Amino acid sequence: MAHVKIFDTTLRDGEQSPGVALNVREKVEIARQLARLGVDVIEAGFPIASDGDFEAVRAIAAAITAENPRVIVAGLARAARGDIERAAQAVEAAGHPRIHTFIATSPIHMEKKLVLTPDQVVERAVESVRTAKGFVDDVEFSAEDAGRSDRDFLVRIFTEAIRAGATTVNVPDTVGYMTPWEYGDLIAYLRAHVEGIDAVDVSTHCHDDLGLAVANSLAGVRAGATQVECTINGIGERAGNAGLEEIVMALHTRRDFWGHSTSIETRELYRSSRLVAMYTGMVVPPNKAVVGDNAFAHESGIHQDGVLKAVETYEIMSAETVGRDAGVLVMGKHSGRRAFRKTLVDLGYAELPEDTVNLLFKRFKDLCDRKQSVTSDDIRALVDVEATRVPATYVLEMVQFQSGTGMTPVATVRLTTDTGTYAEAATGDGPVDAVYKALERVAQVALVLESYEIRSVGSGKDALGEVTVRMRSEGRAVHGRGLSTDVVEASALAYVDVLNKLAAGVGRDLAAPVAQG
Ligand code: KIV
Ligand code: ZN
Repeated sequence: MAHVKIFDTTLRDGEQSPGVALNVREKVEIARQLARLGVDVIEAGFPIASDGDFEAVRAIAAAITAENPRVIVAGLARAARGDIERAAQAVEAAGHPRIHTFIATSPIHMEKKLVLTPDQVVERAVESVRTAKGFVDDVEFSAEDAGRSDRDFLVRIFTEAIRAGATTVNVPDTVGYMTPWEYGDLIAYLRAHVEGIDAVDVSTHCHDDLGLAVANSLAGVRAGATQVECTINGIGERAGNAGLEEIVMALHTRRDFWGHSTSIETRELYRSSRLVAMYTGMVVPPNKAVVGDNAFAHESGIHQDGVLKAVETYEIMSAETVGRDAGVLVMGKHSGRRAFRKTLVDLGYAELPEDTVNLLFKRFKDLCDRKQSVTSDDIRALVDVEATRVPATYVLEMVQFQSGTGMTPVATVRLTTDTGTYAEAATGDGPVDAVYKALERVAQVALVLESYEIRSVGSGKDALGEVTVRMRSEGRAVHGRGLSTDVVEASALAYVDVLNKLAAGVGRDLAAPVAQG
């Protein structure tokens, strides 16, 4: 069975999603999970874009090489010496470094954006691949907007790039314009006409503007692509990129049709999706294939009846294959610490330090007092919140609120900081607004709420509510999360999480330039 390389660009193209603000620590955590997931290449960032991007790529190269040396770590660079040198420095520590350099090849991009002739573009591409080759053996060359480029010009530029030493050629549908038939034809055409193409990897990189990114990527594989560029949960520039989980499960579930395998450990897919959703604050829609809350839920009576009789009647893959055992009752009030530890290991959290396990056990016991049954999803949510916690400068001691029909919502909060305990009250348009105003008065930090999402972890009236907020404070963007069976308390905890992250210097500097591509 032919092998398709999975090139994950969650930390580069995915990070270009509007509103996403990852810091170095969060990027390294995601990279570690990507390595556990088994991706072949991690595109860790665009080092020239900002010092933060550079530091993140460097930290990822060092961490991944120490823990998982098989993984290639790539840094993006425009076709310019300065970009390439910066990318080379950033990936230097990687066991398998890659420089990914790109230049636009469509008439509109060459004329309007680059203001270069096609000959000049080829010259730049060749020069850049040669420069990158001076630093690393593994060089990827991308023809940006290949989807709207002249095919024979692509043949020319890819042939030249391979001659100059490119080891992967990438064919981006940058604006998500193509259909699967056209994209498959393009890959087949390039495979037939580019000199030296059999000795290198041919890569897909499809955007989802028309909802065709996954279909186009798979059409590319069918036509001979050997690498797929994709992101967890399909996040990325504008409408996003091809969803890694969908590509992988399509190839896995229908291997009879595709005849291709990947190195992905599919049971890590759900965990990867949760981690990326949590850090980016981009909540996964419930109906999202493979990783959405409803992806394995059977609502209609006919379907439920069928599944009970034979699961294959309505399920083409099992929830366990993608690492989900949602809703399974795993523990109760009387479960001990040892059983709790074992559950953590079974859920894939074998490496947690002892003090974290102790803290989680306490949170689990608190939860048992508030909730009848604790499921694997509840425990995952507890671990996720703990994983992103920073040292607590602010501790929420109490939140109370009153609201109802015909009355103005009013809230009181009490916060402890290292200088003492403070309480404030405020009214608002709703209970959450009142709580946030009271918290703002206590903390005396001006925060702008940019997004607020709430989801239920599992089902039932006593389900945990998980609140994710994105806030802005003086040019910094920070995500916060809160978890509680009481959604107003979860909202307050998310706000306090933001305060603590700001105090710990976590968050993204919004003044930093954003990566392009
Ligand atoms: O969409 C695109 O063209 C890109 C390139 C930089 C590969 O992201
Ligand atoms: Zn892209």
